[in-house]
Amino acid sequence: MKTYNVVLLPGDGIGPEIMDVATKTIDYVAQKYNFGIEYEQKLIGGSAIDKYNDPLPEETLKACKSSDAVLLSAIGSPKYDALPREKRPESGLLNLRSGLGLFANIRPVKVWPALISESSLKQEIVQNVDLVVVRELTGGIYFGQPKGRLQSENGERAFNTMTYSTMEIDRIARVAFELATDRKKKLCSIDKANVLDVSQLWRERVIELSYNFPKVELNHLYVDNAAMQLIRQPDQFDVILTGNLFGDIISDEAAMLTGSIGMLPSASLRLEGPGLFEPVHGSAPDIANKDIANPMAMVLSAAMMLRVGLKENNAADDLENAIDKVLKDGYRTSDLMTNGKKVLGCREMGEQILMSLAAA
Ligand code: IPM
Ligand code: MN
Repeated sequence: MKTYNVVLLPGDGIGPEIMDVATKTIDYVAQKYNFGIEYEQKLIGGSAIDKYNDPLPEETLKACKSSDAVLLSAIGSPKYDALPREKRPESGLLNLRSGLGLFANIRPVKVWPALISESSLKQEIVQNVDLVVVRELTGGIYFGQPKGRLQSENGERAFNTMTYSTMEIDRIARVAFELATDRKKKLCSIDKANVLDVSQLWRERVIELSYNFPKVELNHLYVDNAAMQLIRQPDQFDVILTGNLFGDIISDEAAMLTGSIGMLPSASLRLEGPGLFEPVHGSAPDIANKDIANPMAMVLSAAMMLRVGLKENNAADDLENAIDKVLKDGYRTSDLMTNGKKVLGCREMGEQILMSLAAA
């Protein structure tokens, strides 16, 4: 029997509750398709700060590096807001991404048929949405040097640097072109090339690379226009390629097309080595330990891990179909529109997903 080594990072807030649901569903499909999963649970974010005063303990990074895949829930809590930035939970996540070299963040956005009426946009605008944001994850302004704060005569000044090398642009653009090749063959690269030098190089490199992918139709949008187009006519997009900061913003916007950020998984990958799979949403400290969180993005992240990370496609399909079924059966968590629907807590939703798996 094939056995995979998976590191679990439940993190903070609602993280442990939704992770619990995800592992139960993974165990179910592992048994059905006859593969083994060995979990190793580690600390990251606030929970790691509490125990080790370090948002990414060496031991956690080491375990992730030698795993087959990493499954993360979410990190962060206002409790740590007063700490210096490098000591905060977010730094744990950023250092994990860069420590594992996960330069390609893949965020699929697809509207679930049962949830179409729950988008804040009109049904006819969102019904055909099926896009993927490919966000560069280990460079750009998140990591650029120099950065910092300076005292000057006129008071304090702070600065960050948005920078991309040819190598960094080429490798993320290649991921996006390849993904578009396997999909609807449309790629939209988002930048701010009318203002930023870094975007001018970005655009030149993407155009250069496009000659290797003649079947993919490439266009470019400035990020402000892209933000507007995503609301105006989101079904014009297939694959979106963008840098770290623009991708952070655009992917939250794209998430809302589907009605709830509580439904969206993501994968962070490199060319070789373990990937990191996590929901797009955060740790929602305001609803932690209330058993009302939506575990579906977490289960869908587990499905992405099974498909992309472990190549267990049937198991991944089963998890996605189970989510589709619970939604069609009218079950909801309280982050979704609940008019006339059966509202479940986090644990109950997990049980309902297991029942749908068993009914498949
Ligand atoms: C995300 C998050 C992170 C980011 C934060 C928590 C550091 O917003 O995964 O999108 O900005 O990348
Ligand atoms: Mn974000």
